[in-house]
Amino acid sequence: MKVTVVGAGAVGASCAEYIAIKDFAAEVVLVDIKEGFAEGKAMDLMQTASLNSFDTKITGVTNDYSATANSDVAVITSGIPRKPGMTREELISTNAGIVKSVAENLIKHSPDVTIIVVSNPMDTMTYLAHQATGLPKNRIIGMGGALDSARFKYRLAEALECPASDVDGMVIGGHSDTGMLPLTRLATRNSVPVSEFLSQEQMDYVREETKVGGATLTKLLGTSAWYAPGAAVSAMVQAIANDANKMFPCSCLLDGEYGLKDICIGVPALIGKNGINKIVEIDLDDAEKAKLQESAEAVRKTNGLL
Ligand code: 2OP
Repeated sequence: MKVTVVGAGAVGASCAEYIAIKDFAAEVVLVDIKEGFAEGKAMDLMQTASLNSFDTKITGVTNDYSATANSDVAVITSGIPRKPGMTREELISTNAGIVKSVAENLIKHSPDVTIIVVSNPMDTMTYLAHQATGLPKNRIIGMGGALDSARFKYRLAEALECPASDVDGMVIGGHSDTGMLPLTRLATRNSVPVSEFLSQEQMDYVREETKVGGATLTKLLGTSAWYAPGAAVSAMVQAIANDANKMFPCSCLLDGEYGLKDICIGVPALIGKNGINKIVEIDLDDAEKAKLQESAEAVRKTNGLL
């Protein structure tokens, strides 16, 4: 498998690193607009190959999309990250132009590619990638829900005082501080509903901390996070490489599912070699349905700024 990662900043490089360490891809091409930057990151990563025992070949190029030709998967991380106090939505005016031109360049050289969008505001950038490329709807996936669900499991494990591997749960809705919908009702510890172990107050805390997970890190780091975003993307790329039919909440172009149309927003989906194999419609209660609709309204408002 050949994977292109556009944007060799912290998220792009960590994504390339996790893909290489998991050793399932033949090739990763890093692309950046800053002269020599992707080349440098690629060389540095390649110098870890003998230490970390991987055979994946990582190369870097400065804005040369011909090197990305025939990629199976392309990850778009380009654009500016948020700074402390900023919302993801505030990035739209800078990032929309960048994501549009990256998506157009990618499909010129890889018409059958599956694109994973990371750039923010992620749901709107996923929608924009559809508009810019006209790719079938299964071939463009927004990463947000996979990351938000990992942050949810982190907060659940913290509250339960247990390893993250004990917990399961997911976050649907928009990838924004107010739009995320962590589904505490369905979260479990080894199949037991978390409500058996946590008070309402603890579950509310987990939900609220999950929603502002990115903002909390942005405040601590002075820029947005990269390890968990990189790991979330690499897990999705691996599911595509292995044709795993693995369920991730992620931003999908909806056509009536959950009563929504012509919008990209986080819902559970099965990911395999064709990208999105299937969108999974789970039964939501009335409050969850209302929150998802509210989240969709906010995403539509941001889409309106395109
Ligand atoms: C985050 O939440 C990058 O949007 C991303 O960290």
